[in-house]
Formats: sequence, structure tokens, C-alpha cells
Amino acid sequence: LDIIKKFAEKGFLISPSLAPKITDHLKFLNFLEENFQNKISVVTENIYNDFLSKSGVIKEPEIIKKKEFKRDSSKVEIKKIYEHENRKRDITDWVAYYNDRFEQIRNLLLHRIELQSAVSINRILTKREGEVTTIGMVKSISKSKFGNFIIELEDNTGIIKGIISKNSACIEKTDEVVEDEVIGVVGSKSKDLIFIKDIIFPDVPEKEIKKYDEDVYACFIADTHIGSKMFLPKAFNRFIKWLNLEMGNEKQKEIASKIRYLFVVGDLVDGVGIYPEQENELLINDIYKQYEEFAKLFQKIPEKINIIICPGNHDALRIAEPQHALYDDIAKPVYELQNVIMTSNPSYVNIHAIDDFPGFDVLLYHGYSLDYFVANVPKLRQYGYERADLLMKFLLRKRHLAPTHGSTLLAPMRNDFLVIDKVPDIFATAHIHKAKIGCYRNVINICCSCWQDRTVFQERVGHVPEPGRVPIFNLKTREVKIMRFI
Ligand SMILES: [Fe+2]
Repeated sequence: LDIIKKFAEKGFLISPSLAPKITDHLKFLNFLEENFQNKISVVTENIYNDFLSKSGVIKEPEIIKKKEFKRDSSKVEIKKIYEHENRKRDITDWVAYYNDRFEQIRNLLLHRIELQSAVSINRILTKREGEVTTIGMVKSISKSKFGNFIIELEDNTGIIKGIISKNSACIEKTDEVVEDEVIGVVGSKSKDLIFIKDIIFPDVPEKEIKKYDEDVYACFIADTHIGSKMFLPKAFNRFIKWLNLEMGNEKQKEIASKIRYLFVVGDLVDGVGIYPEQENELLINDIYKQYEEFAKLFQKIPEKINIIICPGNHDALRIAEPQHALYDDIAKPVYELQNVIMTSNPSYVNIHAIDDFPGFDVLLYHGYSLDYFVANVPKLRQYGYERADLLMKFLLRKRHLAPTHGSTLLAPMRNDFLVIDKVPDIFATAHIHKAKIGCYRNVINICCSCWQDRTVFQERVGHVPEPGRVPIFNLKTREVKIMRFI
């Protein structure tokens, strides 16, 4: 009882069944204060297990039980999912993390003809003069007073400076170079410098064009932000009605009848304690009740539609990426829906691999890093949030979902889970509350809209969301149409 009292004083409610299991009270309380202060009040067993795994004790919450979901005329397979790592983390993880990123992307770059003869940086430093090719992580970028572009490249053998003259044919490419990404360069070495003639981004190869031979549809939504006062129930209910063939013209109803997949790309709920004074903007200020309400709404979706869900930065788990699938106790009512499939952010999910058809690989990423790149990359800044398609293309070309340190919060880990190691058929993201469709080298880019009206914060920063739009992908024609419910 003492334990329960001690935690309650700090605002955390411990169930009588969990209390006896807690061995190191002080450490656990510190962990809660660091990660969950003002966010949750009820401490579940999964949170305790999460604490144990982070402190190096092996015990893992059983979040994902199944990876393949086969039904009558549909199939979903989770191809790559981030799960808990059961060990203590420290500073060496960061070193391993960046080494792993470097190795993964270097291997991709080595497939490029231009980089066949790439050598390590120390070999360039010791080599006297002449043509050189290398691969490195961008340590810094700057512009000289004469307008030349200066770049520092690093690998695990050394650091070298490169210059791209403002008159160079590749000067335009410098507009999209960002720190910490891995690139290849071709140039000539003189003194301690490389005079760079070309920059090679890892990029994606042309993707094969897959088409299923019948009309089947997948739709993409995100950012429902249940619990927020700005949630738009009318628009959302129209969407639900349409899915149930209770709304729309004949053609629209026909489409609805053939939907087998619904992706929900994060921010299911508005959360609690996500930003200062959020409580003033909440209709439901209990995280459990928010998921309960989410489940109530999604329960009305026809059972034959597979609902594939990944978390976002407002959901109830650590904000640092990658984010594992939602906790099965906090989001229990959502887990209880028969047609729900939970995955991580990011993750790869294959849909509709039926008979001989290989299915479509969908890369899901909520999109937290988009804010950073829209603000910091000159080439992207000019379009602002209007061109999510360009932002997605940018990430594909980097083969990374958050190439710059600080573009998203990262959890240190041995492997860089944010590398786009597989080229998807569809890349789906959200977070910016505006729907946009694009296609880059046959990879279909879908940015989802939201179901939340303009918030005080968005008003302050001058962001105009476009809620109530739903991109709908036809597996037969590969067309994506945006339907409006507002
Ligand atoms: Fe978000």
C-alpha cells in the first residue's frame, strides 16, 4: 500500500496487482516522471515491462502476436515492424546507429555505376592528386562568400572537405543536400580538397508497375485526433456512412463496396500532455477514453475492411522514432476490433498478395520529420506544406525517413530502422494534415489528410489544414482519387 501511495503522490496510479511486482521503486518512478508525467495517470503492466526492458531486464510486452492476416478476398502481411529491444541503451548505441546507417546506404550507393570505384576517405587523403570517387556521411555544409558550396564528408576512416563551384553543373543538387545523409561524390583531388563534379544520392530505382486484375481499393486516413475539441465528427461520420454504402452516388457506393484496406497512418488520438496547455483544447482528457472513443467510431467500419494502424507523435507511447505498435492495454478497445492490424511507425506492410499476385508493399511513416525539412531545405521551403509529394520524393531520394539528426526524435538503437531499405510500391505518410498525391519513379506517394479542424497552434504558425479528404487507391488501375467528406 505504501508503494501505491508513493506513486499516487506523484500522480501515478498503480494497480494493486502491479504493485508487488515493482522491485526498484525509485528507478521506476524516475522513468515514469521522465516519460509519462502529465501524460498518463494509470500505470499499466506494459509500461512496467517497457521500463524493465529499457533497464536491461529481459521482459517484453507481447504486442504483436500475428504478422499475417488472411481472409476471404484479402490479405495483409506485416513485412517489417519495429519491436521492443530488450536491452539497456547507452552512448555506444549512437555510434553503432550511425555506423549502421552508413553501411546500409553505402551498400545502396555501391550499386551505382558512377560509384563503382569509390574508395574510403583515408585512401583519398593519402593519395596525392587526381580523379577520386568516395562515399561519406555529410558532416557539415556551408556556402563560401563567393557562392561556392563547401561540404565535409566523413566515413569511419577520416574526414575530407569538398568544394562545389557555383558554376558547376551540379550546384543545383546542393540545394537538397542535408547534414547526416550519406552521399557519393565524384571529383578531383588537389591539396586537401575534393573539387566535386557530381553528387550522387542513393535514390530509388524505377519501381516495377504492379496491377491487380480486379477492382479492389485501399484508402488512407490519419490524424483523427480523437479527444480534441477540433475533431470533426460530422465529416468523419459521413466517411463511415459512405463505407457502409449509406451515402454517395452509385459509382461512389460501388467503390466503397470494393474497399478491402484502410490505412490509419498515426495520431489516432490527440493524446494528453503532448504540448503545454493542451487540456484547454481537449474534449476527452483521459487517454484511455480517447482510444475507447476511437474504437467506438471504427467499430462501425464494415468487418471486411482490414484496418491497418500505425502510431504517430500524439499517440500514447514514446515520441522517439521508431515507435512500436500501440500498447495493447492503453489501446485495448482498438485491439479488440476484429479487423484491426497493428504495426509500428515506420513499417512495411504488404496488401493483397492473393494467388499469384505479389501484393503491394506499403511503407508507412507518420511523418514527424516533414516539419523539419519543409523549414530547412531551400528546395522544399519555397513550396511550404503545399507539396508533400516533393517532401516524400526528397526522402525517397535520401533512402531515409529522417536523414538529419534532429529532424525527428530518435531512440538510439544498433540498427537504423529509418533507412528506406526496400523500395515500396506505395509510400504513405501524414502529420501535416493536408492530402497530396504524387508519384516518383513509379512509387506512389500518398500524404493523408486529417479529421481535425484548424487548431490554435496551427493558427499561430499560419498553417491551414485540409481535413476530411480521403485518398483512395485502385489496385487495378493504380489511380488515386481524393474523396472529400467536408
Ligand atoms: Fe502528427
